[in-house]
Amino acid sequence: MTKKPTVYIETYGCQMNVADSELMYGKLVAHGYEPVDAPDGADVILVNTCAIRENAETRVIGRLGELRRYMKPDTIVGVTGCMAQRLGPRVLEQARHVSLVVGPDGYRALPALLDGARRGEKFTATDFDLEEHYEDVVARRFEGVKAWIPVQRGCDYRCTYCIVPFTRGPERSRKLDDVVREVQQVVEQGLSEVVLLGQTVNSYTDGTHDFADLLRAVGAVDGIRRVRYTSPHPNDFSDRVIDAMASVATVCEHIHLPMQSGSTSMLKRMLRRYSREEYLDCVARMRAAIPGLSLTTDIIVGFPGETDAEFEDTLSLCQEVRFDDAFMFKFSPREGTPATRMPADWTIPDDVMAARFDRLVKTVRGISRENNLKRLGDTVEVLIEKLARDGELWQARSRDFKTVMVPADAGKIGDYLRVQLTGTTGATFTGTPVADAAAGRRERKPLPMAV
Ligand code: SAH
Ligand code: SF4
Ligand code: F3S
Repeated sequence: MTKKPTVYIETYGCQMNVADSELMYGKLVAHGYEPVDAPDGADVILVNTCAIRENAETRVIGRLGELRRYMKPDTIVGVTGCMAQRLGPRVLEQARHVSLVVGPDGYRALPALLDGARRGEKFTATDFDLEEHYEDVVARRFEGVKAWIPVQRGCDYRCTYCIVPFTRGPERSRKLDDVVREVQQVVEQGLSEVVLLGQTVNSYTDGTHDFADLLRAVGAVDGIRRVRYTSPHPNDFSDRVIDAMASVATVCEHIHLPMQSGSTSMLKRMLRRYSREEYLDCVARMRAAIPGLSLTTDIIVGFPGETDAEFEDTLSLCQEVRFDDAFMFKFSPREGTPATRMPADWTIPDDVMAARFDRLVKTVRGISRENNLKRLGDTVEVLIEKLARDGELWQARSRDFKTVMVPADAGKIGDYLRVQLTGTTGATFTGTPVADAAAGRRERKPLPMAV
């Protein structure tokens, strides 16, 4: 018997890329490959890349150089994902040891492309395929307790800073039945949490069903205890979606709602298509419908032309909404996006950018700490996800997305526990198991006010 060829995939970027890597592993396993968890000596090394900010790409270029050291003479190196899509053949010119450049809609061809590469050929496959959802590919999952489920690919918004529409192509959604079937398979594999993925996931439509239908259908799958989704766009929160979120018990009380800026004039330059007031209104509608909702967000500082007043608006919106947490980014110009065509004198100098970023981080962290201190003493349901970094505690997560460290003898990965929040660093919690009859029992949400 010949030995199976081994494949190692290194993943950068967002959960969509994590899900795509799982699909690529699935596709390759079906063609006789064996996944390995290190590049050392692998027959195939794939780097699944991100292009969202310049530093995401710089990191990958550095890493590609480093990977040479793990190559055997016949190792094939491929670059996949958003940077592959963006740069295409330029990757082959810049990194001579790379044989394959494959964009997000080209993974079906990987086995054939690898065969070609073995014969010494080089390939770039960056066509978009609006029908491609990899329906027949069984993802090879590595995450212990939750499954990433892409329900929509691509993006039809055109935020002026963003490369994603270029790297992922136009928006398209999977059929509801196909998503539900995958969720059922996930349960059979022993997982009980799913995260539905899309760039503007709440604009999901398969022609017949909208995102509210999808939440209800997925939330009702037997054995599913937690449903999350990311990232929604504020403009796509219909009352139907909010109703579904509020009334489906398995949908968690957390929304990641990218804000980007708190200033209406800035939002306009970003082409986000909502104002400060509309964002606030969206938050208010959701909070009214979903008790105990936690909110996280994405914020960009230093977008072209950002005035002091516009930046202050971002800080004040953070104060007003009181986010539980935020991902914060310094603006990074991306080739081909409309932001790069804005007047040169709108560019924010590095020192101003750095000072604003610093203030924003302090503001967000301060609010997060205040929110978390108020939670001390609460009893919550957590799901044990993995070993904490110190190797001595479990890292678990509450329904509202708080990270909670629990003692190692409290259970095992995949267990649900009730814990009292007994301490906080300001960002994460420590929890003490509560020995009550509810332990491990299916948690019901309080009923929404309006029935
Ligand atoms: N589809 C998601 C966002 C995907 S990108 C949405 O619309 O919310 C994740 C985050 O990266 C964005 O929300 C934004 O905050 C940030 N980002 C995107 N392009 C960027 C750029 N050019 N510079 C800095 N941050 C950027
Ligand atoms: Fe990018 Fe905007 Fe689409 Fe999100 S909605 S992926 S930020 S263009
Ligand atoms: Fe990066 Fe592509 Fe995701 S650019 S953030 S990996 S969609």
